[in-house]
Formats: sequence, structure tokens, C-alpha cells
Amino acid sequence: MKYIIAPSILSADFGNLQRDIEMINQSEADWFHVDVMDGIFVPNISFGFPVMAAVKKHATKPLDVHLMIVEPDKFIPEFAKAGADRITVHYEACTHLHRTIQLIKASGCKAGVALNPHTPVTLLQDVIEDLDLVLIMSVNPGFGGQAFIHNTYKKIQDLKRLIQGVNEELIIEVDGGVGLQNIATLVSAGANAFVAGNAIFATDNPTETISKMKNLITTGISI
Ligand code: DX5
Ligand code: ZN
Repeated sequence: MKYIIAPSILSADFGNLQRDIEMINQSEADWFHVDVMDGIFVPNISFGFPVMAAVKKHATKPLDVHLMIVEPDKFIPEFAKAGADRITVHYEACTHLHRTIQLIKASGCKAGVALNPHTPVTLLQDVIEDLDLVLIMSVNPGFGGQAFIHNTYKKIQDLKRLIQGVNEELIIEVDGGVGLQNIATLVSAGANAFVAGNAIFATDNPTETISKMKNLITTGISI
């Protein structure tokens, strides 16, 4: 089983973005997690295409783009052109989710769907075969540095059951409040990709923190 660490550049220092991107390039991290917020779907605005282009210019690892925006179909081809490798849309933001998933794939990207903490995984039953990734939000989307919601463990287990015999290759990604204190427990629950913002960028040595996360995943020891 391959485990993925995806540092969220939302917590990077935008005044030193290139430095922080190089740090991720040099580290044991696997993807760049790119959080796009529109101020409508979530109560915050992050950044759009110019920042995305700057990240793409320097990043040597895949871009995992998390769209916290309404009407994502309007922008999916442009995010693909800007260098997204994976595009994840929110279940709660898509009226025609099946169509949106097909659009992501037609744009040449892997397709993901994110679920807010209140949205049960069973609602994905009829599209689960079409997906490459499900992103379980372990905080309410909008901000970095929030407290992890405990019900996430149950949701990961529910999702594990849902993909059994249907799409066992699907990546189960967790986003929000993930860090050294819970990553091993999340692995035991069945998650295999981990987004972390604050837990990486607010430490003195982010590269070392990423290494420690990788280590906890492989040793499975909770701290
Ligand atoms: C929250 C974003 C997350 C966020 C995670 O809306 O989707 O990716 O940056 O930040 P931490 O790890 O600080 O909770
Ligand atoms: Zn995110």
C-alpha cells in the first residue's frame, strides 16, 4: 500500500512561496495540496490561477487541487490547463456530480470528491466506481489550523466498506487537523493519503516533520 503525504500550501508563507515549494520538493512529501476557496462555498478566499501557476512553475511533484468553490464545472478545464494532476470537487457543490466527474477525467486529470463532515459516504455509492479519490474532510472546510473531528474515523471505515469489491484502488484522503498525533490512527482506520497544513508549516523544521509523519505511517505507532 502506498501512503501519500500532501502538504497544504495554504499554510505556506506566501511571501516566500518559492522557498516553501522547494522545501516540499526536497522532502519526503508526495503531492502538493492546493486549496482553492471562493468565499461562497466556504467563508474564506484563498487564491486562484496566478498562485496556482507559480506553484506549478516550481513544483516537481503532482498537484492535488481541492476546489472549495461553487459551480466548479466552469473552471475545471482551466485548472487542468494550469497543471492540476488531481481535481477534487465537493459533493455539496455539485448538482450533477456524475457530469462533473466525467469533465475532470475528460480534462485529463484524476477525479476526486470531497465530503464535508456532515455528508455520509453512502451518498457516493452510485459514483464510487468512477472515482480515483475520496477526500474526507476532518474539519469544516475554509481554514487551516482547525481541530480534527473525531467522527472521521467512522467515516473512513464506512468508505472502506463501500469500496470493497468495487473500487479497492480508490485513495482515501483525509484533510484537516491531521498531524503527528493522529496520523497512525488514521492509517489503522484505512486512510492512505494525508493532507497537512499547520502540522507541517507551523513547526520549526517542516522537512523533519514530514519525515516523522512518513515514519509514523510505516511503523504504525501512535503518539
Ligand atoms: C481546509 C483545507 C485544508 C487545510 C488543512 O479547508 O481544505 O487543506 O489547509 O489545514 P490544517 O492541516 O492546518 O488543518
Ligand atoms: Zn484541502
